[in-house]
Amino acid sequence: MNTPSLFAARKIAADFYELPSCMPVPGLGILAVNAYLIRGPEPVLVDTGLAALGEPFMETLEALIDPKDLAWVWLSHMDADHVGNLLSVLEKAPNARVVTNFLGMGKMMLAGLPVDRVRVLEPGSGLQLPDRELVPLSPPYYDAPETLGFYDTSSSGLFTADAFGALLGQPAEDAAAIPASQLRDGLMAWAGIDAPWLSQLDERFLAHSLDAVRRLAPTVVLSSHLPAARGITENLLGYVAGMHAQGPATMPNALTMERLLSGERATA
Ligand SMILES: [Fe+2]
Ligand SMILES: [Fe+2]
Repeated sequence: MNTPSLFAARKIAADFYELPSCMPVPGLGILAVNAYLIRGPEPVLVDTGLAALGEPFMETLEALIDPKDLAWVWLSHMDADHVGNLLSVLEKAPNARVVTNFLGMGKMMLAGLPVDRVRVLEPGSGLQLPDRELVPLSPPYYDAPETLGFYDTSSSGLFTADAFGALLGQPAEDAAAIPASQLRDGLMAWAGIDAPWLSQLDERFLAHSLDAVRRLAPTVVLSSHLPAARGITENLLGYVAGMHAQGPATMPNALTMERLLSGERATA
């Protein structure tokens, strides 16, 4: 796979959909990039996908909901793979408000994104909806300090933003169907790149934050960078617990990257 690809939406739970896509990571495989949609009395779009997939992303979204009905756009953080289609979404969803926190709003301003429809979540307060509450939380690891995951009190699903993402050899629909060794290696490889500080973290501190996930006992772990993960929470926690003993991440060096990219240019 040389270019980003979008896939059909998948139902995760009642009124809860994954909007999956994938992007190539040269030399290392592919990475899932998921947005999510919660339908209901006050529909919520969680992140806005890759800009490179703008038109098909909007088509996928509009097949599930009239954007005018969207009440909220929950932004996990301000990285490009999470806010790629924010402007298109806001244009087509005039009634939607953007959910972020103080730092998230600051980064939106720095990026020139509109903040006139932002709802800043106060520390300790959630997004109360008629049929559920999205309880904000910091995932056990992240690459941007404004990161807002959440626990959904209706589905008992846990949205973890970048945490538990994994580099894979090919697209997958179900994290539990990925061979365990591939999932472990892919998760540790991506975590080492995306959150390199994990390997330097005190083992007990890391165990404490992983315990917080364990206590929630989510029915499904919803990462931005892994297909929906049901019934394997303990496996995911175990892989991350091993990160403190892992050395620095191995990434392609400049020469390898040049070869990879020139190969891609030749085949494009
Ligand atoms: Fe990120
Ligand atoms: Fe990300």
